[in-house]
Amino acid sequence: MSIVKINALTVPAEQREVLERRFASRAGVVEGSDGFEWFELLRPLEGTDRYLVYTRWRDEAAFQAWMEGPMKAAHRGGGEEGGAEGGRRPAASDSTVWTFEVVQQAGPKPREESGE
Ligand code: HEM
Repeated sequence: MSIVKINALTVPAEQREVLERRFASRAGVVEGSDGFEWFELLRPLEGTDRYLVYTRWRDEAAFQAWMEGPMKAAHRGGGEEGGAEGGRRPAASDSTVWTFEVVQQAGPKPREESGE
């Protein structure tokens, strides 16, 4: 089954808007990567202050291939390259990547057609 890679971002309160704006204008390249299955930007409401960037991939190799190529272009100025000189400052003050294996999954059952 698939693997899930979550980037957990620590974002100072005054940077939240900046972060969300950057994601709103993200490259949109990941959608075309081989083995990419899902992306969500999760805004914390309760239990944690960290934003989660949820991504799901066919396998580890697909994720690694994205990391080594398209990811770098998709993070121009927003991630580690957004240092003091020239580039934008990163909105996040810290980031940690978590890896999971999907063990089970489910979605809602298809609804039966209801003849009104
Ligand atoms: C140094 C750590 C990282 C920081 C601070 C960071 C932050 C950001 C920001 C601000 C964006 C919006 C685009 C931009 O302004 O650059 C972005 C895009 C994205 N990030 Fe990260 N990121 C980091 C590493 C990662 C990692 C390890 C993953 C994998 C789980 C990831 C997954 C994504 C995805 C899927 C997008 C959207 C790319 C697209 O639209 O093609 N990021 N990230």
